[in-house]
Amino acid sequence: MNVYAGLTGIPVVKSSISYIDGQKGILEYRGIPIEELVENSNFLEVSYLLVFGKLPTKKEYEKFVSDIKENLELNQGIIKFLKDIPKTTYPMKVLQGIIPILSAFDENKEVLDEKHHYSSLVNLLGKVPTIIANWKKILEGKEPINPDKTLDYAQNFLYMLTGEIPEKEISQMFDKTLILHAEHTINASTFTAIVVVSTLADFYSAVSSAVGALSGKLHGGANEKVFYMLNQIKDLNQIEEFIVNKLNRKERIMGFGHRIYKTYDPRAKIIKNFLTRLSQLKGESELYKKAIKFEETALKYLKDKKIYPNIDFFTAVFYSYLKIPPQLYTPIFAMGRIPGWLAHCKEYIKENKLFRPTQIYDGGHNIHYIPLEKRG
Ligand code: SDX
Repeated sequence: MNVYAGLTGIPVVKSSISYIDGQKGILEYRGIPIEELVENSNFLEVSYLLVFGKLPTKKEYEKFVSDIKENLELNQGIIKFLKDIPKTTYPMKVLQGIIPILSAFDENKEVLDEKHHYSSLVNLLGKVPTIIANWKKILEGKEPINPDKTLDYAQNFLYMLTGEIPEKEISQMFDKTLILHAEHTINASTFTAIVVVSTLADFYSAVSSAVGALSGKLHGGANEKVFYMLNQIKDLNQIEEFIVNKLNRKERIMGFGHRIYKTYDPRAKIIKNFLTRLSQLKGESELYKKAIKFEETALKYLKDKKIYPNIDFFTAVFYSYLKIPPQLYTPIFAMGRIPGWLAHCKEYIKENKLFRPTQIYDGGHNIHYIPLEKRG
């Protein structure tokens, strides 16, 4: 028997939700190329596609959006909880802690029941953005901003974050970045979610556990680290030395590399195009200039190892243009990934098999207990 570290390349499930070709840089959701969805669709429609396996009819879509709008508001007890917890609580911990409590407001408790799949999806898609935005306002010492049902999904989130209704083009770009975060086959957080649901725990427990996995800097936590990494560099002329020193210290460049993509992450390409447009609209920010120069320089050293920018590298710059605080970057990633996590949970329990891998034991046997007083 061999140990397959990190299960690299080991299939643990059959799935028809999304497909990645890591050599060609291809990503498809339910067989539709990500570029076509970004061009023509929106995050809520893509969420429906991922979870239910088909694009919704007009009637299905209108009901889905309306049900989510009915779920935007937070219970006053949740808001009080947000106001009472320490302000030093990390936003990903806030999300991980509150999501299981949202199940209290969902009457559909049976994880095998389709009603639970639908109600948990609309409940989480409705409330997670409000939790993130409310937490930001509370950290600022301000009253949370109530959701505005007259706005579309992305507009409402950005409005709750800032108090201003965003320009349509900006909120559309943001909505498209949510599409790009929505799903990515069996990554660490999605694997976590299906392991949890394989015990027949409910979708709220699965999503809360997935948020925990996503928070790590090797996974979803990288976007925030990219922001801090780029801000460590004071001048464009220091970029090459910064990169060489990091590589010499065998440190990982945040926002670069991927277990599957051994070419440019197609999502990073699209977000980089959004940045080009944003720089035309708002001018080239210092962070934007650094990121472009950083990418060009880092590829000189990493391209031969097939290490390219991933989704997190340019997302950090995109969110900084929108003046979103870096601690919210990964919670926004989580908000975007909810449909992917729930799609896999729904698919996996159809033919559920409790996950129970094995190990190769390399410890001792027949070792005897030593009383405390004899241990020196
Ligand atoms: C996400 O899985 C998904 O789909 C995730 C995700 C999703 O949508 O769910 O795409 C989201 O998590 C994107 C990745 C975000 N993480 C980062 O940006 C953190 C920095 N990246 C690395 O830690 C790394 O690239 C990983 C963890 C993402 C992938 O690493 P691998 O494929 O496991 O590669 P490895 O750790 O075995 O390293 C192989 C070699 C090593 O060099 P040697 O020891 O062989 O000399 O490549 C080097 C590594 O040092 N390497 C890097 C590097 N990534 C790999 N060197 C410098 N910088 C990097 N970023």
